[in-house]
Amino acid sequence: MSSSPVIDVQGVWTRFGEALVHRDIDLVVHRGEMLGLVGGSGSGKTTLLREVVGLLKPTQGEVRLFGKSVVDASPDVQRDLRRRFGMLFQHGALFSALPVFDNIAFPLRELKRLDENLIRELVWMKLAMVELEPAHGRLMPAELSGGMIKRVALARALALEPELLVLDEPTSGLDPDRSENFVKLIRTLQRELNFTVIMVTHDLDTLAGLANRVAAMADQRIVALGTLQEVMAVDHPFVHRFFGGGRGLRAQAAQERAD
Ligand SMILES: Nc1ncnc2c1ncn2[C@@H]1O[C@H](COP(=O)(O)OP(=O)(O)O)[C@@H](O)[C@H]1O
Ligand SMILES: [Mg+2]
Repeated sequence: MSSSPVIDVQGVWTRFGEALVHRDIDLVVHRGEMLGLVGGSGSGKTTLLREVVGLLKPTQGEVRLFGKSVVDASPDVQRDLRRRFGMLFQHGALFSALPVFDNIAFPLRELKRLDENLIRELVWMKLAMVELEPAHGRLMPAELSGGMIKRVALARALALEPELLVLDEPTSGLDPDRSENFVKLIRTLQRELNFTVIMVTHDLDTLAGLANRVAAMADQRIVALGTLQEVMAVDHPFVHRFFGGGRGLRAQAAQERAD
């Protein structure tokens, strides 16, 4: 195995018309890391995730996933890369017209030639992984609670046993208890399966509970990068706003008590 980083963003600039969103961003994420990306609303976090997975081409710069360039990947390389990461996007929830089973089976059917018996086994396995029952497979998304939708979306993101999990606001819309449970679930699965995580969140408990490294975006760049403690110590107005008033320290302390 090569030791190339899982994610390697070098010199990325992003413009939408006149608007400059990223100004020379570098970001490296190594195997097994859980990187939390924070930043104000509209600071370009989701855009960066979309660039990392090849859904959007940066205006300038290079993005490598597993050592391969995403920016000018051939369709074959793109397909190979797509098997290796799973995504849980804030608004890209579930296919509302498909029952839970088919939602989770979707990537298996799309990317692998598997017979239906094996697909059924795999879907049941993924349901169990996110603490749901085979019977839940028959439910339609509209019949699920917010917490269950997130679990099913996580099961779908993990269907192909990805090496990288990309999460955009994974706990948004969940109440604190459900949010905490979902964080625990992701953490347990990450320890078992050892995938790498890049995650956008504005929730400090989610950040403290999952991220072992934090990147803070402001002024179109990454203004702080390091452990939560290191980032909290950086003297920047966004960092003060985000972690200020002891919020960051409280989240960290709560996390240490939970461990
Ligand atoms: N496809 C697009 N076309 C034009 N502007 C966009 C597009 N996607 C995002 N933007 C703009 O880029 C900025 C960053 O967006 P986004 O990455 O979604 O922010 P965040 O996820 O940090 O809240 C915002 O001002 C947004 O309006
Ligand atoms: Mg966003």
